[in-house]
Amino acid sequence: MYLDNGATTYPKPPVVIRAVNQALQTGANPGRSGHSLSLKSGELVYRCREDVARLFSFDKPENVILTANCTASLNIVMQGLLHSGDHVVISSLEHNAVVRPLEALKKRGVSYSVAKAVEGDDEATIRNFRSAFRQNTRLCVCTHASNVFGVRLPAERLAALCHLNGILFCLDAAQSAGVLPISLSDSSIDFLCAAGHKGLYGPMGNGILLINSEIVPDSLIQGGTGSFSSDRSQPEVLPDRFESGTPNLPGIAGLGEGVRFVLRKDTGAIFRHEMALCQQLYRRLEQTDGVILYTAYPQPQSHAPVLSFNIEGMDSEHVAQILSRQYGIAVRAGLHCAPLAHETYETAQTGTVRVVPSVFTQPQQIRQFTEIIKKISKVDRKKVAKP
Ligand code: ALA
Repeated sequence: MYLDNGATTYPKPPVVIRAVNQALQTGANPGRSGHSLSLKSGELVYRCREDVARLFSFDKPENVILTANCTASLNIVMQGLLHSGDHVVISSLEHNAVVRPLEALKKRGVSYSVAKAVEGDDEATIRNFRSAFRQNTRLCVCTHASNVFGVRLPAERLAALCHLNGILFCLDAAQSAGVLPISLSDSSIDFLCAAGHKGLYGPMGNGILLINSEIVPDSLIQGGTGSFSSDRSQPEVLPDRFESGTPNLPGIAGLGEGVRFVLRKDTGAIFRHEMALCQQLYRRLEQTDGVILYTAYPQPQSHAPVLSFNIEGMDSEHVAQILSRQYGIAVRAGLHCAPLAHETYETAQTGTVRVVPSVFTQPQQIRQFTEIIKKISKVDRKKVAKP
């Protein structure tokens, strides 16, 4: 039973697997040569950009940058934009993909502040962001939904607030792309970063960056793009500016199919399905002796389908190990690369056990899972209990 879809979705839809296979069998290097196989590969890449743009109501497919992962996308934004003296505001639920680049940028004279995200109280969250703004705040980077606790942030309202204050807004949609609605045409989001292998059902090694701003980051990597080859300088045009070197064609082929799979299924329907499973999970865990829950009952307006818990007195990694070894169940435990979020919820010492469903998860799996948690809580908790 696979409930670790926050790390990567599994299984992948058969259309994705077929597309990866097909690209490996027939794919040539896109945008490099004039022969038909290369041209066909170039079309496949462009179609992927178009469909990603369509999913996020974005009218500039050439501003869809295909990257290695969401972390790479976030690094382009932060490292490519920020200079000495710049200040950044982030939420208290950020992943290390945001925190670590900012820590590294401190050496270049960039500073940052953390605004507390208040679960279920968007007004308070917005107030906290507003109070964190300074004269030199250039950028706000904010997760759409915590990868640990599923808590949602009011992305559109925060983006609008940033624009009012002349601040750029970058959304980390690692856990939300393909699950929560995101529209670039109706919002002030300047940069949208997401993983291609989670809610977009593509293969791992894929990420996207949508640039919805006239202010464009510097490129972090320079090299061949198959375009403007007589020019020694990196092309300024998008997407070439950020896509030097041979792209991951099989991955992009799979990502394109993954995005079309999501478009066909419909993000709203996927969200309703996964939220219902998280609500079912929450209710059952709530009634299980020894289970500790950290968030309120998941609500569509304030939560995404990601749920964390612990069993009293048991280490989260130990619970995940029992689930894997004795029951063949995959979940992620520990800190989920987001120590800041764990500090916020006071779980930095224990970590949590995290369950994330996908479009393929079924209610009977959640029932079975909670029965097993009940058993672990009854039997294994006693074994670790101090005399
Ligand atoms: N960031 C991913 C997770 O939350 C890998 O598990």
